[in-house]
Amino acid sequence: MPIPTLSLNDGSQIPSLAFGTGTAFSRHQDAQTTLESAINIGFTHFDGAQRYKNEATLGAAIKASESSVPRSELFITTKYAPLTPEETAKTALCKSLEKLGLEYVDLYLVHAPKDHMDGGGLKGVWKVMEECKREGLTRSIGVSNFGVEHILEIVEGAQILPAVNQLEIQPYVWDFVKPLIAVHKEHGIVTSSYGGLSALFHAPGGPLDPVVEKIRARLEDTRGKPVTSGQVLNKWLLQHDILVVTTSTKVERIGEYVDTCDIPELTAEEMGLIEGAGAERHQSFFKNTKYCLKGI
Ligand SMILES: NC(=O)c1ccc[n+]([C@@H]2O[C@H](COP(=O)([O-])OP(=O)(O)OC[C@H]3O[C@@H](n4cnc5c(N)ncnc54)[C@H](OP(=O)(O)O)[C@@H]3O)[C@@H](O)[C@H]2O)c1
Repeated sequence: MPIPTLSLNDGSQIPSLAFGTGTAFSRHQDAQTTLESAINIGFTHFDGAQRYKNEATLGAAIKASESSVPRSELFITTKYAPLTPEETAKTALCKSLEKLGLEYVDLYLVHAPKDHMDGGGLKGVWKVMEECKREGLTRSIGVSNFGVEHILEIVEGAQILPAVNQLEIQPYVWDFVKPLIAVHKEHGIVTSSYGGLSALFHAPGGPLDPVVEKIRARLEDTRGKPVTSGQVLNKWLLQHDILVVTTSTKVERIGEYVDTCDIPELTAEEMGLIEGAGAERHQSFFKNTKYCLKGI
């Protein structure tokens, strides 16, 4: 099954599964081969950032794959994080485009609200983001690691609403994410996740593990083909209409991620079991999360 898309509030479509170039690949100049494999295996959406310092690697992979997958069939995201106080969202995006070897990106996100608390603040940054979209440097604009108050601050007076908010989402933060998702829904903002697998692989032995294993075994039995615990959690996110940004340094795992779209659906009861186990432990794995999910 091709990777399904979600509709953005500006009329564009976004592939609901993305391959990340941060975490395992951040500052990693040798990511090109893995990124080319991800394109060949079926990923079409790539999540980059100025802060990862490896946009040129992503650009090289896009160029090397051009004959089999044209740029127009890919969805490229990058994120604004100023390196100097003078660097605006627009000057930084122009540098990103040069490194990526592209004329436009599909989605440009403000990486984190805490970078923009001085000067014109978030409203000032958002005006420049709107300019980037109007000038065709990016097809869509959005935010990352924004909490309810950050979203409300830019929505007030915005000419173009953010299309996406990307943040850590996994069962151990789920209780704190729900009010933010309600605000996203009011404004048609797509919720995007990262760190979706952290509860399993950064904190093994927690209350989530036996629940996910039980569901994994049930799905594997139903399907008659292997299902992994990672696929169970990514499917849980996708069934909530949450865009999944994941990654891997291993080719076999890249195939596993794309295959998530083909595993059977979780039942309502299984979705509830994951959320119930998540509520037993509150833990986040990324420092930006404390700025957007109050109380975690
Ligand atoms: N906006 C932001 O502030 C922000 C912050 C963080 C991340 N992100 C984006 O989100 C992307 C994904 O983040 P993430 O790495 O946290 O995603 P994730 O989906 O939670 O975790 C992916 C990691 O899980 C590991 N994994 C998967 N299955 C495993 C298994 N069975 N056993 C052991 N390890 C397993 C993979 O390791 P292997 O490499 O061994 O396969 C991979 O490194 C990043 O690359 C970045 O693009 C954005």
